[in-house]
Amino acid sequence: MARVIVTRRLPEDGLDPLLAAGHEVITNDEDRTFDAKALAAAARGADAIVCLLTDRIDATVLEAGAAGGRLRVVANVAVGYDNVDVATASRLGIAVTNTPGVLTETTADTTWLLILAARRLASDAEADLRAGRWAGWGFEDHLSLDVHGARLGLVGYGRIGRAVARRAAAFGMEVVHHTRHDTGEPGWTADLDDLVATCDVISLHVPLTDATHHLFDRERLARLRDSATLVNTTRGPVVDEEALADALHVGRLFSAGLDVYEREPAVHPRLLGAPRTVLLPHIGSATVGTRTAMARLAATNAAAVLAGERPPDLVTR
Ligand code: GLV
Repeated sequence: MARVIVTRRLPEDGLDPLLAAGHEVITNDEDRTFDAKALAAAARGADAIVCLLTDRIDATVLEAGAAGGRLRVVANVAVGYDNVDVATASRLGIAVTNTPGVLTETTADTTWLLILAARRLASDAEADLRAGRWAGWGFEDHLSLDVHGARLGLVGYGRIGRAVARRAAAFGMEVVHHTRHDTGEPGWTADLDDLVATCDVISLHVPLTDATHHLFDRERLARLRDSATLVNTTRGPVVDEEALADALHVGRLFSAGLDVYEREPAVHPRLLGAPRTVLLPHIGSATVGTRTAMARLAATNAAAVLAGERPPDLVTR
């Protein structure tokens, strides 16, 4: 029987694959956040850690796991794994897994929520109504820009980018995508700056890596059309948040829809006050069904490693 430490509260039946295998599963029913010390202690004393993107599994934590001599797997309950030092885990022989696939459609839905809301200025319009500023139907009030027929640029074209593209067909949109390597599919462009300068709606779907950190910096944001909408449902640091806030305040782009931030849970104060901006608190995959599926997949991955098998979603070498 192995010991598994789960760093946050997860849906009740999400951990079944580990319980069914007879492991000792230590849950965090109060959902208190593990600080660096608690994570290192967990790594030192467990065979598996099931963790979330809010947990920084850095070299210190992983080395504590190696020193404890038990830790075999870190199962991240997220598709992104920029919170885990995968290189160090690989070097120490600790498996890292993620949860791709099960959250694709829900995250694509959230992306569309932001595309529609940011393009049609839903947050500003609702704020006016709630604040009693709505004096009645006005022909030129709350004028926004169309979604149907617009040109959509996807930056990154993995599972989620493709699911966003599928939905765009129903809106009669022209869709282009940029990836570093040619996908060989219609709409691919090698030139990110060209995509940025020619699209009405730009949606980000690249993982956060050294190469994508501030991919949308001040210079690239300056290339956006003044009628453009930028949507980010991947990771906050892909965009220079301060530069984006500046651009929104001066009307350098039309609008933005964000689900992720550079320093979560902090949001740049100038973004909080930015006009034509829809802000969600990182809820991309937050449906009952999807969060349960993510927990189950992470538990399945951890259970596989503990059984000496190759887990379905291994990200370490
Ligand atoms: C959420 O942001 C995830 O990576 O699953």
